[in-house]
Amino acid sequence: MKFSVTAAPITQSKAALRVVGIVRKRKLTEAAEALDAVLGGVLSGTLKAGESDGDAGSALLIPTNVKAVPGTVLIGLGPRKEYNAKSARKACGTIARLLTERPGASAALAIAELVPPDQDPGWLVHTLVAALGDAAYRFSTYKGKEDVKPVRLQKVDLHVNEDQLEDARQACLQAEAIVAGSNHARDLGNTPPNDLYPEALAESAVNLAKHYRKLKVTVLDEKDLEELGANAILAVGRGSERPPRLVALEYRGANKDEAPIVLVGKGITFDTGGISLKPGEAMDEMKYDMCGAASVLGVMKAVAELKLPLNVVGVVTSAENMPDGRAARPGDIVKTLSGQTVEILNTDAEGRLVLCDALTWVERFKPKAVIDIATLTGACIIALGHQTSAVLGNNADLIDALKKAGTASHDRAWELPLWEEYQEQLKSNFADMANIGGRPAGAITAACFLARYAENYPWAHLDIAGVAWKSGKEKGATGRPVPLLMHYLLDQAAAK
Ligand code: BES
Ligand code: MN
Ligand code: ZN
Repeated sequence: MKFSVTAAPITQSKAALRVVGIVRKRKLTEAAEALDAVLGGVLSGTLKAGESDGDAGSALLIPTNVKAVPGTVLIGLGPRKEYNAKSARKACGTIARLLTERPGASAALAIAELVPPDQDPGWLVHTLVAALGDAAYRFSTYKGKEDVKPVRLQKVDLHVNEDQLEDARQACLQAEAIVAGSNHARDLGNTPPNDLYPEALAESAVNLAKHYRKLKVTVLDEKDLEELGANAILAVGRGSERPPRLVALEYRGANKDEAPIVLVGKGITFDTGGISLKPGEAMDEMKYDMCGAASVLGVMKAVAELKLPLNVVGVVTSAENMPDGRAARPGDIVKTLSGQTVEILNTDAEGRLVLCDALTWVERFKPKAVIDIATLTGACIIALGHQTSAVLGNNADLIDALKKAGTASHDRAWELPLWEEYQEQLKSNFADMANIGGRPAGAITAACFLARYAENYPWAHLDIAGVAWKSGKEKGATGRPVPLLMHYLLDQAAAK
């Protein structure tokens, strides 16, 4: 799908469909009125006939596309006084659904009057492009052609006012890159675990570096990890025929001695639980246990695409957690890369094990900040559901910046406390710590474990177990939290 931003009036558009707003009580917005005049009163006539009240979220298609005149979609915006970011988001969702289901290959959208009073045009463009990107996403690699309904929409023109042009253009480029990054993450997440194993995930990072010259890739294989002493990663991967990988993608968009922002993604390509085997129900969904890593790769793609003036390092720590004669046992003690020892009381708490070695390893980049992203705990879903990621960390400014970026992108994060007192739950009789902290506050004690490896830099942890994929009829990866992370990085770039 190609987007373009123009200040030309929508009345001149030749697109297959022209989308304009109506406010409640059947009142046409300015753009709609202009169009109505050109169409000889068809729009106002339709409203007078009572076809639409203009309720928020409603849509009415008027097929005026006889004799080469494009069809019109009237989007309800609700009462003008009540119009806000929430109703605007709703309208964007309606537009996205409608346009991606229609046969038309092109559409023109009147943007100016969709911008709610509490937001700027850039926000609206971000919201709209994200909604369209989401609605147009298909994962059809493994399906027969006749089974997949393609999206016909190819071209979307965003009509804005002259004074909104620059803002809207920039927002559009950013939003398109974010969509591409999210879709990249979704593709990786949806790929089945027989095809996406640690080496394949590393290979996808190598491919990104081939495509974007500004990305430099480093892949550590099992031998490298042994030499390094990354025994926690190795312990998780030991039960699998597919060896683990630790990958770094370095993007240098700023001065080379500027400290980078480092993103670390959990990349468990399949989580059976290991010897602490998970129950069978919905175990297929544990292919999504690499969505943290996928979001990191999606972000690196978007960062490279936008050529952000920042230094960013994306790290993927990947293993397959399988039960086997060689697999780690409950009771095993491993010496992690940091030198601290861990008693593995439950092999299903493997995410923190692959992450802890990665968190030590990234010290070599002398980071300005480290953010890890992980489908880490079922407890996070119990605490916060599927609406929001959990954010915890050792630096209030970093946490606040992530929360702000989450709100702006509607890919939200909510903070959980990381108080010292919770650390007690990780006590082990035999090692420096256990890898589980019991049932209470499971998302917090998992973060407490990570905190012990992240003491040497500002650090935040995003638990994305609830947001990274959907179950049920719409089962699939969501691409979250690529939008949150990208808004954070865009904020960082803008603050320079
Ligand atoms: N990958 C899971 C977390 C998870 C569970 C994500 C369900 C999404 C949906 C993680 O490796 C795990 O198994 N965590 C355990 C930790 C426990 C053993 C302390 C969990 O949450 O049950
Ligand atoms: Mn697990
Ligand atoms: Zn896991």
